[in-house]
Amino acid sequence: MNSQTKNNYHRRAHQFIPAGAHTYSRADDQFPANAPKFVSRAKGCYFWDENDQRYLDYGMGILSVTIGHANDEINARVKEAIDKGTCFSRPSILEGELAEKLNALIPSAGMVKFAKNGSDVTSAAIRLARHYTGRKLIIRCRQQPFHSFNDWFIASTSRPGGIPGEMKDWVLGFDYNNISSLETLFDHHPGQIACVIMEPFTNELPQGDFLDRVKSICEKEGTVLIFDEIITGFRTHIKGAQSLYNVVPHLSTFGKGIANGFPMAVLCGKKEIMEHGGMQGEVFLLSCTYGGESIGITAATACIDFMLANKVPEHMGKYGEALISHFRMLIDKHGLSETMTISGHPARPELRFLKNGKTHFELKTLFMQKMLEHGILMERIAISFSHQQNELKNTMAALDEVIPFLSLCVQNHTIEQNLSGPIVRPVFTF
Ligand SMILES: Cc1ncc(COP(=O)(O)O)c(C=O)c1O
Repeated sequence: MNSQTKNNYHRRAHQFIPAGAHTYSRADDQFPANAPKFVSRAKGCYFWDENDQRYLDYGMGILSVTIGHANDEINARVKEAIDKGTCFSRPSILEGELAEKLNALIPSAGMVKFAKNGSDVTSAAIRLARHYTGRKLIIRCRQQPFHSFNDWFIASTSRPGGIPGEMKDWVLGFDYNNISSLETLFDHHPGQIACVIMEPFTNELPQGDFLDRVKSICEKEGTVLIFDEIITGFRTHIKGAQSLYNVVPHLSTFGKGIANGFPMAVLCGKKEIMEHGGMQGEVFLLSCTYGGESIGITAATACIDFMLANKVPEHMGKYGEALISHFRMLIDKHGLSETMTISGHPARPELRFLKNGKTHFELKTLFMQKMLEHGILMERIAISFSHQQNELKNTMAALDEVIPFLSLCVQNHTIEQNLSGPIVRPVFTF
């Protein structure tokens, strides 16, 4: 493809697609100027751009590809399913089989309901909780950036266009690992809190019995506890992060971590609550044309089989531990501990760039730009089963060059002059 055609493609994408991408976090303003603009194909933990240039991928489909792109074993099962038809007028046998498997696997699953997006299942959990409790208010964790593209969540962000203003008053925020910030909300709104929705953890892991105490408060107040395991689910533990801490929420949601990049999402929870979405219930709970289609369902079934047989979460944890300790060694050695941190569960490390307690977007941009010069796309750290020793070695070698360079730029105040294009921006400014 010559550069004229490529430029046309980029221009046309922006002409016909708002933001030029169907997910804001895939858009141009999230990446440095030297990032590949389009992906033409991917395999394992590598992808190729429109110029057939290969990159080591740490984005992995915004954390959804946990085993590897175009995995032969999973794709073979999906292709077999496609040949038997994908969308029927009565439920398929596959739906029941996966439902049974998930009920056996996930501690909080008494019943399950399928959809295609994480946003759909978290929104369904909110609707169910509001109905079950007869209450309106939702509590979420301020440090956790995203649960859904639906109104209940977006109302409380910096982009609430098109959503009735009062909806933002129905979402309250507490601070992770700060139990008194949660208690205060319950004190100020007695008998009004329908649910607490939270990821079991993000960059900060729970301290002591924090998650247990959240659950106790919810039980005491008659509030539904929802764990959003869209990312943690199956990445950090094959039974969900709820198993790591032995805290079983009333409802939980799964998505990105369970079907190796195929569209699949799951709401699961206590039978007593889930049944309100049944035949006799009043809740219209997740009913979509593609809710039972065979591709995502087969991919999830195959993905669970693969993860169990190959101990995938354990692999990701070990890889992450080695990467985190190399990062930390370099950060300390080059005097960047005030400016760069890496934390979180080893299977889901989070790298942060800081200036005066806020995200240092200039440094983040420069970091990504320099990693790309080594053929590595690292806008986040999404480890998969396909990231093996060779990839770890090459990543560490790139970091050995990039981190000292960043340190020099911080010391000499030359970050911006080394940038080859615009500074990346957050999707929400809050
Ligand atoms: C924690 C969490 N919950 C929910 C969602 C929404 O999932 P989806 O993008 O599949 O709608 C995301 C997506 O980024 C997420 O990270």
